[in-house]
Amino acid sequence: MKIKEIKTVIKEYNDESELSAEDNNLINIAREASKKAYAPYSGFKVGAALLLVNGEIIEGNNQENVSYPAGLCAERVAIFYAGAKYPDVPAKTLAITAYKDQDFIDEPVTPCGSCRQTLFEHESRFNSHIRLILAGKKKIRIVDKINDLLPLVFDKTYLEG
Ligand code: THU
Repeated sequence: MKIKEIKTVIKEYNDESELSAEDNNLINIAREASKKAYAPYSGFKVGAALLLVNGEIIEGNNQENVSYPAGLCAERVAIFYAGAKYPDVPAKTLAITAYKDQDFIDEPVTPCGSCRQTLFEHESRFNSHIRLILAGKKKIRIVDKINDLLPLVFDKTYLEG
C-alpha cells in the first residue's frame, strides 16, 4: 500500500487592497451580478465575472427553477455564454461572489463539483488555465487553476485508445 498526497496551493487574503486593480474590478462586477441572480428558492445569490484573454468580461449568476435541477449555477451561466459568444477565446480569470440575507457572505464561495468539471473542460479545450478568485467579504482565496480544486479529474485521456 502506498499513500499519495496531493498538494493544493491556495492564496488567502484578508484585505482586498492586496489585490490588483484588475482583480478588484472583477470582484466588483461579480458582486453586481450576484444581486441580479434569480434565486427565489434558495435565496443564495451567486455572481460570476469571467475575464477573457481578449479583455471582455462576461457576467453570470444563478438561475433557479421551481423544478430545482433545471436551474443553473452562476459559473456555468458565465462559461457557457463565453463559449457561445467567443468560441475561440480562452478565459483568464473568474471571480465568484455570493449574496444572502441582504449582504455578501463573509467566507469565500467555492464552485460546486459540476461547475469545476465544466471549467476544467474549458481549460482543456484551450490548453490554458483559469485563475479563480473566490471572494468573501472577510476573506479572498485565489487558486491558479481548476485542477487545484479538482484533483484526480476525469479528463479526455480516459476516452483515448
Ligand atoms: N450555486 C451557484 O450558482 N454556484 C455555486 O458555486 C454554488 C451554488 C447556486 C445554485 C443554487 O441556485 C444556489 O446556489 C444554492 O445552491
